[in-house]
Amino acid sequence: MTTTHSYAPRQGHGLPHDPFNAIVGPRPIGWISTCSAAGVLNLAPYSFFNAFNYVPPIIGFASIGHKDTLANIEATGEFVWNLATEALAQQMNQSSASVPPETDEFTLSGLTPLTSSQVRPPRVQESPVSMECRRTQIIQLQGADGSTVPTWLVLGEVVMVHIDTSLLDNGIFQTARARPLLRAGGAGDYFTISMQGHLDMRRPK
Ligand SMILES: Cc1cc2nc3c(=O)[nH]c(=O)nc-3n(C[C@H](O)[C@H](O)[C@H](O)COP(=O)(O)O)c2cc1C
Repeated sequence: MTTTHSYAPRQGHGLPHDPFNAIVGPRPIGWISTCSAAGVLNLAPYSFFNAFNYVPPIIGFASIGHKDTLANIEATGEFVWNLATEALAQQMNQSSASVPPETDEFTLSGLTPLTSSQVRPPRVQESPVSMECRRTQIIQLQGADGSTVPTWLVLGEVVMVHIDTSLLDNGIFQTARARPLLRAGGAGDYFTISMQGHLDMRRPK
């Protein structure tokens, strides 16, 4: 016999840890580089991140609270998404440190800024894939009762993509080979993927 744990989030989850992040996971990470109007570099991971459109490609992430990345994009309209891989896990984590806006997380995490071609924020040189983006919309979220939430969804159009060609086989991007780092729930749960978990399923005609 199965039993179900049901809860209304506004009344609490009744569990030792909120399961929401662990259920909606693992999530890709938006490792976002920006710069301030004065040119101070910034880098931070955002796992409330995803792709929202093919043509033009649009990606987005949610800033829970008004963070430096959001402030920089409001000021400059530009950001770069970098692929966080298993090999870059420590640096990605280091770049999430709560530090003042004057602190450059590239230096803090021992990463190398690489000049972008279309936007001012640099790419992470050590990351095998980067996407240069221009802000399209910044939307403050609302609850079901219409009350505003201190969270902002930042959307941007991808205007330039850079891929390490070692991740291309006959021009086909090898998702598993990149060993993307994916965020799950808990204080520090991450996953990566391999071809063992691969499933090939075509859409019905
Ligand atoms: C893997 C990971 C995912 C994160 N995802 C988010 C997120 O989706 N939204 C958010 O507001 N903060 C997220 N954080 C926390 C931010 O990275 C952290 O607050 C950071 O200091 C923000 O930097 P900034 O103020 O320079 O933008 C995440 C942290 C980690 C390690």
